[in-house]
Amino acid sequence: MGHSAAVWDYRPAHELTSDWNGNPYVILRNPQGASARISLHGGQVMSWKNEHGEELLFTSSKAVFKPPKAMRGGIPLCFPQFGNCGSLEQHGFARNKVWAIDNNPPPLPPNDSNGKSFVDLILKPSAEDLKCWPHSFEYRLRVALGADGRLSLISRIRNVNGKPFTFSFAYHTYMSVSDISEVRIEGLETLDYLDNLFHRERCTEQGDALTFESEVDRVYLSCPNAIAVIDHAKKRTFVIRKDGLPDVVVWNPWDKKSKAMTDFGDEEYKHMLCVDGAVVEHPITLKPGEEWTGRLEIVVVPSSFCSDHLDLHKVRF
Ligand code: BG6
Repeated sequence: MGHSAAVWDYRPAHELTSDWNGNPYVILRNPQGASARISLHGGQVMSWKNEHGEELLFTSSKAVFKPPKAMRGGIPLCFPQFGNCGSLEQHGFARNKVWAIDNNPPPLPPNDSNGKSFVDLILKPSAEDLKCWPHSFEYRLRVALGADGRLSLISRIRNVNGKPFTFSFAYHTYMSVSDISEVRIEGLETLDYLDNLFHRERCTEQGDALTFESEVDRVYLSCPNAIAVIDHAKKRTFVIRKDGLPDVVVWNPWDKKSKAMTDFGDEEYKHMLCVDGAVVEHPITLKPGEEWTGRLEIVVVPSSFCSDHLDLHKVRF
């Protein structure tokens, strides 16, 4: 990876503490000063900062940091459904539940641990969850911060016993951007998408890259495993790599919807963009004993690194 052993040789560590409401959360740090904060409420990444202490994720100034709803910002986990259908609550219940620290997770490949500060969390269904979604699952989440500041999330969902079950999923990632009109997404051009603003009509992306001048609420289908969110004003690029997550949700509420959300500032749509690695079009079915894994990795690089057009195939992880 081009790093000396000294940089990588530090002990993975995390600190468990709690916020002013008494909600427990975990802090990950790397030796260069980058950090991530993960709430046990929802297993939600609440904050991710680079080595200069700059926040990379968006959090609304009107966010409510109290259960039972997910905080507006960071990375809420949408499971066992993305969206709003049937009797399940919008985006599923996982983001509204209290997770536990998993002290003895089944092993992951060495690349998911070496040189990283990480925490393992687990969610099992409560009696209340089983009433609305009667399936025995174990959801294991690892959140890791690399020595170079990259953030990775690994979700492992297992059917523990009983009948097969089916779910959809998203890492609902709120990125912090300087000005939405200066942002471009590369990697989604020419793809088909479902447009949530038009009854999920199937359309095809026409532009060279995706830019923003009004509300966007789309599910891009069968996407490449690397995409880039380029923030021209900040001269920085979020490079997102994903595995097991074929779809990408892109959401910005724009002005009208912003005003309708009580936990979101009227003008805040200018400073955020949700780009979610997701499984929406073809939900996952797990038979008893089967497990699904979905990985997301985000790294922030100076846009100069990407020149005019980032060659996503050359991005190293
Ligand atoms: C997006 C959906 O992913 O999430 C939008 O596509 C939705 O339709 C948005 O409004 C926010 O959802 P929630 O439940 O967190 O307010």
